[in-house]
Amino acid sequence: MAEVVIVENKDAAGALVADEMVRLIESKPDPVLGLATGSTPTPVYQALRERLAGRDVSHVRGFALDEYVGLDPAHPESYRSVITREVVEPLGLDPALIQVPNGAEETIERAGDDYEQAILGAGGVDLQLLGIGTTGHIGFNEPGSSFASTTRVKTLTEQTRRDNARFFASLDEVPRHCITQGLGTILRARHLVLLAFGEGKAQAVAGAVEGPLSSMLPASAIQLHPHVTVVVDEAAASRLELADYYRYTFANKPAWQGI
Ligand code: GLP
Repeated sequence: MAEVVIVENKDAAGALVADEMVRLIESKPDPVLGLATGSTPTPVYQALRERLAGRDVSHVRGFALDEYVGLDPAHPESYRSVITREVVEPLGLDPALIQVPNGAEETIERAGDDYEQAILGAGGVDLQLLGIGTTGHIGFNEPGSSFASTTRVKTLTEQTRRDNARFFASLDEVPRHCITQGLGTILRARHLVLLAFGEGKAQAVAGAVEGPLSSMLPASAIQLHPHVTVVVDEAAASRLELADYYRYTFANKPAWQGI
């Protein structure tokens, strides 16, 4: 089962996950990070910024989960721009080593396969950060996504477009299509770290961690992975049936065991 860590607040979540990422970056000559966008991973990037200041990160590679289709990569809300602004620049990563799926319409037919090849060529993702959408999506794998899916184009649900409209001038500007790593792609990463904060995510988190496996709740795919850490605040944990057991487990965690 996933290890569920219930933390006091976002900063505690950021510190816990950033510590693990630093361990990875320091222990491997060629670490590959799986980067996520959205507001959820921000505390992790913030904590990483402090921890990596002044360190050599020229060997760190990274792959983003997803991108909008047909949005100019220079648009401030393209995930290419977001990853550059919130991760690559503040952490001092080498932009040439950080990839984002290519959402250009002209080449979209082969963009998914190209991205899969690039991930395989890098030796796979070591640690994949994940947020969760209110529809239960990870990446942009909306309900109905196959557990075996690879990087491909998806149509966004109206719910997800509304959720993401806050980043755009109007709902009309939110693209209708995206290219996203599939659930099968995500499951190949060696360690999955899913974060969620706030009451609005509680139902999706409970479904993902404790519900039945179902493509109707794509994040439930994490139950198929042997190494998953779910980091949530009290509000996002509020619908977890085994919350007390998760607290007990974490409080009694052997000192030698990382997340
Ligand atoms: C978008 C992203 C997801 C992210 C989700 C939740 O749909 N494609 O990767 O997990 O939003 O966003 P937030 O973290 O802002 O709640």
